[in-house]
Amino acid sequence: MDEFRYHDGALMCEQVSAHEVARAVGTPCYVYSAATLRQHYTRLAEAFRPLNPLICYSVKCCSNLSILRLLTSLGAGMDVVSGGELYRAFKAGCDPRKCVYAGVGKSEPEIRLALEQGIGLFNIESEMEFENIARIAREMQVHTRAALRVNPDVDPKTHRYTTTGKRESKFGVDLERAEAFFNAYGRDAFVSLTGLHLHIGSPVYSTGPYIESVQKALRLIDDLALRGFHIDTLDLGGGFGADYESDQSPLAAQYAEAIVPILQDRVSRGLQIILEPGRTIAANAGILLTRVEYVKQSGDRHFVICDAGMNTLLRPSHYGSFHFVWPANPGVALTPPRRSRELVLPGLARTEVVGPLCETGDFLAEDRMLPPLHRGDLVAIFTAGAYGMAMASRYNSHPLPTEVLVDGHSMQVIRTRERYEDLVVHESAAQ
Ligand SMILES: Cc1ncc(COP(=O)(O)O)c(C=O)c1O
Repeated sequence: MDEFRYHDGALMCEQVSAHEVARAVGTPCYVYSAATLRQHYTRLAEAFRPLNPLICYSVKCCSNLSILRLLTSLGAGMDVVSGGELYRAFKAGCDPRKCVYAGVGKSEPEIRLALEQGIGLFNIESEMEFENIARIAREMQVHTRAALRVNPDVDPKTHRYTTTGKRESKFGVDLERAEAFFNAYGRDAFVSLTGLHLHIGSPVYSTGPYIESVQKALRLIDDLALRGFHIDTLDLGGGFGADYESDQSPLAAQYAEAIVPILQDRVSRGLQIILEPGRTIAANAGILLTRVEYVKQSGDRHFVICDAGMNTLLRPSHYGSFHFVWPANPGVALTPPRRSRELVLPGLARTEVVGPLCETGDFLAEDRMLPPLHRGDLVAIFTAGAYGMAMASRYNSHPLPTEVLVDGHSMQVIRTRERYEDLVVHESAAQ
């Protein structure tokens, strides 16, 4: 699952202890495991090898340059959704032809940047957007490739905020509109519309929704072929799960077992497959370390107030999502046997783990059975590598935290903690 393990009652990231990291760089702090990132990418690449896919890591989930560089060095392309993410991908040395660009609101400067750099594929979200990209490409006299993002109307059975492929979604176009879309734009002189893009949601913990949506996409490819439109690329998007609890998610091999057989024949006939994994690579490759500032009792509730909150890790308050939380140095007797919301160990107490912000919704874990925690204790929030730092904010004027990458025995700061000066660096005094 990952390289964060308890050894002699203390949490280790690979060969470095959580305690050592926190002592060196302070808290709150994101800690990533290079070995886990490599392992997750490689397992996915191996599982899907029969399809020879282009694997475009989804930059949005964890966009630190060092992490993008590590994945680029393994051969990954990048899935981006903004000019900023494009900039990061290029800075990380990713070949622009291995970049795919989605997002419902691509602006003119963003489109121009993508065209100047020669990105591999625009994932088109609406008619108006296609017209805009085609106009700019014509003005620049640049040729590019595009895939139409279609909504296969499949329920991925996940949070409504991360359900993206149903009818009436703000993303892509409904399947029934695809043919008309190709009739209108499928023969543009500057933008070759020869792909389809799907992203049904995230995280998707079963293979059924993928099978259903791929089958719908293949039917559409055949219908389009009858009308003279050749589709050479099918981008399946992201959404594979992560282990927020131990063994919660199918393995890469299990997703592949379901998807590969449906596509193998098409691939042998020339269809290029793209995958856009984010969470399944980065989520379990990162933890958030935080320290207990205070403990207090309010009515029947026991609060542990930490130096990280919804500003540092938004997912619990935004999506109501579960992250396994445990002290970094619980001792041997209280070492968790697995990550689960239902651990039974002696001496656990019902606890609210909250942050320092002036918001009642500022929590990391609600109503959780935890070992006793005291002021100064170091606490780990697991499976925080994806949509953790990437969604962090400076709300309540808390500077953004440090990020550290551990590789074996070595530990490198890959983003330094912001200082108070950084909070105001772009502000100027009104006259
Ligand atoms: C278009 C697209 N591709 C890929 C992803 C990555 O999803 P995940 O991190 O669940 O793999 C997302 C996530 O929102 C997305 O919107």
